[in-house]
Amino acid sequence: MERYVITVTIFCAVITRISCCDIVKLTFPSGFKIGTASAAYQVEGAWNISDKGENIWDHWTHNHPEYIRDGRNGDVACNSYYKYKEDVALIKSIGFDFYRFSVSWSRVLPTGFTNVISEDGLQYYKNLTAELVANGIEPVVTIYHWDHPQVIEEMGGWTNELIVDWFVAYARVLFEALGGSVKRWITMNEPNSFCTDGYEDTVNAPGKVITGIGKYLCAHNVLKAHAKTYRMYDEEFRDAQGGKLGIVLPIITYLPYNSSYTEAAEVAFQFVTGWLAHPLYFGDYPEIMKTRVALVSKSQGYPRSRLPEFSDEWIAIINGTNDYFGFNHYTSRLVYDDPDEELGIYNSDNGLIVTVDPSWPLGGSTWFYIYAAGFGELFRQIRDEYSNPPVWVMENGISDADGVDDYDRINYFYEYVREMLIAIKRDGCNVEGYAVWSIMDNFEWSAGYTERFGITYVEFDDADTNRTAKLSQTWWTKVLSKRKLQSVPTSTYTRTRLPWQK
Ligand code: NOJ
Repeated sequence: MERYVITVTIFCAVITRISCCDIVKLTFPSGFKIGTASAAYQVEGAWNISDKGENIWDHWTHNHPEYIRDGRNGDVACNSYYKYKEDVALIKSIGFDFYRFSVSWSRVLPTGFTNVISEDGLQYYKNLTAELVANGIEPVVTIYHWDHPQVIEEMGGWTNELIVDWFVAYARVLFEALGGSVKRWITMNEPNSFCTDGYEDTVNAPGKVITGIGKYLCAHNVLKAHAKTYRMYDEEFRDAQGGKLGIVLPIITYLPYNSSYTEAAEVAFQFVTGWLAHPLYFGDYPEIMKTRVALVSKSQGYPRSRLPEFSDEWIAIINGTNDYFGFNHYTSRLVYDDPDEELGIYNSDNGLIVTVDPSWPLGGSTWFYIYAAGFGELFRQIRDEYSNPPVWVMENGISDADGVDDYDRINYFYEYVREMLIAIKRDGCNVEGYAVWSIMDNFEWSAGYTERFGITYVEFDDADTNRTAKLSQTWWTKVLSKRKLQSVPTSTYTRTRLPWQK
C-alpha cells in the first residue's frame, strides 16, 4: 500500500512537472506581440515649441511645483521631440515589435479645438509614425495620456460633458492623419487614475479636489467620449483603415485578505475595473457600485447618488465598444470588509479596507509592492468576467531610484512575465500583446524624475539627456531574440525603503 502511495505520488509529481515544463516552456506563443511604451508629456519635452498650446501638465507643473516631489517638470523631459529617430533606433536595436506612444492634444490642436491644426505638431507624429514603420516597428497610439489643453480645463475639463464632442473632433484629426499606418489605438490611458488623482486630489493635474463627485463625473464623460469616438471610427474610418480601438485601464489585483473575504475582493474588482469595463462590455456600471454609491450618498445627505446614471440611449452607444481589453498592471492589494460598517459608519463607497502583505518586496514608488502571482490572477479574473476577450497589457514594469545595474527590474520582469505565460498556456487566457513600461526613464508625474521606470537610463541633468542601457535592456534584447524568458542573475530583491516610502 505504502509503495502504491509513493508510486502515485511520484507519478503525480512527474505529471505536474511535465505540465509545468511542457505547457509552460516560458517561450512566447507565435504571433504574440512584445512592445514598449511611453507618453507624450513624460518624454517629449519641447513644451512650447512652434505653436504648441499649453496643456494641463504644463500649467500644473509651472504653477504648482510644490506638488511635484523634485519641483521639476516636463519642459525638456527626455527630449524625444528632437530625438525621436534615436528613440526608434533604440527600440529597433532591442527588438521590440511595437511602440506605444501618445499624442499631445495641445501640440496638434493649439487652441484645443479643430479651428487650428498645427502643421508642425501633426508633422512630428507623422514623422515618428513613419520612422517606426520604416524600421518594422508597429505604432500603437494613445490619443489621450492625461494632458488635455489648459483652455479645456478652464471650462471644467473632464467634468464638462462638452468635452465628449471636443475629444471626438480631436480623435478624428488623428485618424485622418495617422490612420493609414496606425492599426491599434488607445482612446484614453487610465481614466481611473486621472479622474481620481486629478479631480479628487492634488496628485495629478488639474488637481481639483471635488470629493466623492469629481471622479465619477469625469469617468462618466470619459466613457461617453470613448464610446462616441469608437462609433465615429466605425462610421468614418473602420472600413478603410481596419484598426482596433480600446481604452486602457489601470488594474491593481485585489485579493482577499484571508479566505473569508473572497466577496470583498470581488467588490474591489468591480469598483476599480468594473467601474469602466462593465459599461463597455455590458452597457452600465456594475450593480454593486450602483447600490453602494447610492447607499453611501444617501447616508451623507445627498438627494441622489453621486454616481451618475446613463440613459438607455447612452447605454446602447457605450455597450460593446472595446475591441480588445487593454490594461496597465504593476501591483496588488489585499482587501477585507471595513468593520466600521457594522456600526453603520460608511468610510468609503466600496466599504473595504485595502492593505498589503508586509512580506511583499518594494518597488521604488510609494504605492509599489511586488507580487507576481497577482498578475497571473488578474488574467484569470478578466477571462472569467468578460468572456475571455483579447487582452493587451499596455504597461508593466517597476520603479527604482538606481542606476544601470537594475537586478530587481530583471527579476520583476522575469517573475511577472512568467505568470503571464502560465496564464496564457495553462489557463487559456487570450493575451495577445505586452508592453514594457518604459523604454526609458522619464517624467514620473508627481514624483518628477525621482522614480525611474526605464530599461534605459536617462541623464536628466545633462543637456543632451544621454541614454545608457541598463542591464534590464540587455536582458530584454536576449528575451526578444529568443522569444523566450531568460534566466535572471538573482532571484532576490534588494530594495530598501526610499525616503518617500517611510
Ligand atoms: C501608469 C501611467 O500610465 C504612466 O504614465 C506611469 O508612468 C506609470 N503608470 C508608472 O506610474
